[in-house]
Amino acid sequence: MVSLNSYPSFPSDCKSLLSKHLTKKVYEQLKDKKTSSGFTLAQAIASGVENHDSGIGVYAGDIESYDTFAALFDPIIKEYHGFLKSDSHVSNLNANDLNAPNPDSENKYIVSTRIRVGRNIANLPLGPAITKEQRDEVEKQAASALNSLEGNLKGTYYPLDGMKEDVSEKLIEDHFLFKAGDRFLEAAGLNRNWPKARGIYHNDEKTFLVWVNEEDQLRIISMQQGGDIKEVFQRLTSAISKIEEKIKFLYSDHLGFITSCPTNLGTAMRASVHIKVPYLSQDYAHFEEITNKHHLQIRGINGEHSQSVGSVYDISNRRRLGVTEVQCVQDMYDGVVELIKVEKELALR
Ligand code: ADP
Ligand code: ARG
Repeated sequence: MVSLNSYPSFPSDCKSLLSKHLTKKVYEQLKDKKTSSGFTLAQAIASGVENHDSGIGVYAGDIESYDTFAALFDPIIKEYHGFLKSDSHVSNLNANDLNAPNPDSENKYIVSTRIRVGRNIANLPLGPAITKEQRDEVEKQAASALNSLEGNLKGTYYPLDGMKEDVSEKLIEDHFLFKAGDRFLEAAGLNRNWPKARGIYHNDEKTFLVWVNEEDQLRIISMQQGGDIKEVFQRLTSAISKIEEKIKFLYSDHLGFITSCPTNLGTAMRASVHIKVPYLSQDYAHFEEITNKHHLQIRGINGEHSQSVGSVYDISNRRRLGVTEVQCVQDMYDGVVELIKVEKELALR
């Protein structure tokens, strides 16, 4: 159980949004509050208090956390997404509204494309506050809904508990499975009872995958080699609507899909490509200028907090709330088109 006896201190070089927005006044206002599932301020901020290199530093334990601890979460949400209390979120998962012809039909730049959404089940706490029994219930509901899928979504659910180490390592290396032991999730209470009730579902081709009980209860993923972004989006949206026939997800008109980390609220969507840009990445400021213009984030190729290998980077939408799913993918697409154009010009110099 996380406890907090006094106002936490952060080193002067700490850049987390938690350290910025947890003023003494906010701390005093929230320190004794609890949601109905018993989630406290100490739990909400534990990850950022322990990990001073956090970018954000907070997690919600349930949908109520976003109200109970609004004095802290609202300014963080505003700063990350540019989303105000008076704004509302609109969803659009219609693939026909996306304008995304393959920007790299010769397969020279885009190694692979992946789009994921986070989802959590209605009427249950989120991972940081969930009980072992409730987590088991999530796994049961997820496996049952997933096992009813047909056609190109048909696959198998593989529990992590009992999975051979060489199998899980290969799945991680091939970018299909989450890593164990993330220290940000650990401090947030998201790794309790690991690996119980954690698992991965995937079809034979591994183009459709679902992570169960990692940072969010479900991470629904569509991915494939190359740059056919629209095909990846279409597969994802058809899978989401099939799963929604069986499971009701946590959703609020204001914040959209509710996730444990405030960066994922709204669409809970991260649309990415692994893209090879050896020339552009040598001028990192120029590279970032283009990604910033299109509201994109640069990651390394082994997931968050990893490094680039062989000039391949993970480029994805940064905004997820107050924009539709189509817009998230369109941001990524438009940015990728410009990155390829500039990379080609630099190669000719
Ligand atoms: P998330 O996408 O859930 O926010 P990560 O950034 O940690 O989490 O990525 C999860 C995994 O997905 C990592 O193994 C990462 O390499 C892989 N991945 C992300 N984008 C792509 C992509 N476009 N192609 C292939 N693998 C990808
Ligand atoms: N808690 C981590 C931090 O503040 C990750 C935040 C965003 N990423 C995520 N996977 N939710 O840096």
